[in-house]
Amino acid sequence: MVPETQQKTFYVETFGCQMNVHDSEKVIGTLLKQGYRQVETVEQADLVFYNTCSIRDKAEQKVFHRLNDYKKFQAQGKKFAVIGCVAQQEGEKIFEKAPHVSLVAGSASYRNLEKMLVQIEAGERRVTGLDDRQTDQTFETEFTARSNPHRGYITIIEGCDKFCAYCVVPYTRGKERSRTFDSVLAEARQMADVGYTDIQLLGQNVNAYADPAGKKSFAELLYAVGEVPGIRRVRFTTSHPRHFGKDIVDAIDALPSLCDHIHLPVQSGSSRVLKSMNREYTREMYLEKIAWIKSARRQIALTTDVIVGFPGETPAEFEETITLLHECQCDGVFSFKYSPRPNTPALSMIDSIPDEEKSKRLHILQERQREIQRANYEKKVGRILEVMVEGKNEARGQIVGRTSQNITLNFTTDSTSVPEVGSYANVLVTRSFPNSLVGELVQ
Ligand code: SAH
Ligand code: SF4
Ligand code: F3S
Repeated sequence: MVPETQQKTFYVETFGCQMNVHDSEKVIGTLLKQGYRQVETVEQADLVFYNTCSIRDKAEQKVFHRLNDYKKFQAQGKKFAVIGCVAQQEGEKIFEKAPHVSLVAGSASYRNLEKMLVQIEAGERRVTGLDDRQTDQTFETEFTARSNPHRGYITIIEGCDKFCAYCVVPYTRGKERSRTFDSVLAEARQMADVGYTDIQLLGQNVNAYADPAGKKSFAELLYAVGEVPGIRRVRFTTSHPRHFGKDIVDAIDALPSLCDHIHLPVQSGSSRVLKSMNREYTREMYLEKIAWIKSARRQIALTTDVIVGFPGETPAEFEETITLLHECQCDGVFSFKYSPRPNTPALSMIDSIPDEEKSKRLHILQERQREIQRANYEKKVGRILEVMVEGKNEARGQIVGRTSQNITLNFTTDSTSVPEVGSYANVLVTRSFPNSLVGELVQ
């Protein structure tokens, strides 16, 4: 072992979706395995990793601003690596604008990370990993540095082939490619062996999963992971409506360890807008899938994503999104103003809706949804729900829990024995808010 004081140190900062968060856990695992030591600040680090997101809002400009701030550290011999979606999108341009950067790599190249680290250590400038859509391989790691010892992610499918008109992901994360069923299952078993009880399966389109080694479907993978001894909760995100089959709802109905929550981004309630977005389903097709979910034996929570102000969206089409949200009765909606992104087909459409109007639509949608949630969460008062204990909110004297439906349920207890983080407890719901619940521990 190298003494701690001589070990090379690294710092990782992560932006973006759960896929990026989990990629960072795998990158950290790879660095630790190579003998590096993780530190908490840029100042302490020899090597700084900046894991970037490009989904909205001039993301690349923000990255360049930050890199500019980092310039002052160059004299101290620190090295900088830009990874993730902005790295893949901007590529070698990053070296031009920020010459103190040594490595630029997109997620489709992380499988070569060890090799790239050797190159950096050898003093090579401008090391790149910009495989983009050329590879069919996934990032398999021997060691993943998961930050939570009870609930953890497993990537089952990488990349995206859907090319929705507004979205950068197909250009930043490469082709859609699934990990083998055996490899996913082995990882779930390993996690259960060391005490994990809650697993979240990840992918830009989890339900497009196709086992490269056999004929297993996504629903079969759900059953298999849900049946791993020790695993009490399995979630999965994100599902694409186009591939959403009834077999997923049947699996949730059949196996209690599969959480009663589905995240199914709709993006718009107008079939005309959906077509222009290249989503490949209509309003009616989406609603048919929602009907399967609503008719399940279990009460399955539904959440979605919506974009307002997509090029050409008329006030009447926006209103269709509002009526769709009323029909769907979602437990949560992530809503965004359309944001033009580099390389995407929507960039050449006329984005004539003023920002002010987009903001107005967003505000209306969020207010309406708040009322829907207020009414729905109220109906949960009086029920006893199982939560996984996530932590304590000392200021409020509450324990923070999460229900199977993915709702935050903060609770109190009269007893002196407070349930441990990572354990499960039954809680009586006593109050509701539009985004969370409050309750008391049931002894
Ligand atoms: N793969 C998932 C979502 C990936 S991105 C899916 O297909 O649904 C997460 C969310 O960001 C999207 O669902 C969409 O609502 C939003 N988003 C993506 N690109 C955007 C853009 N250019 N402008 C605004 N929102 C966008
Ligand atoms: Fe983007 Fe569409 Fe792929 Fe989702 S399915 S990541 S929105 S291109
Ligand atoms: Fe962002 Fe890339 Fe995820 S653009 S949302 S980090 S896939």
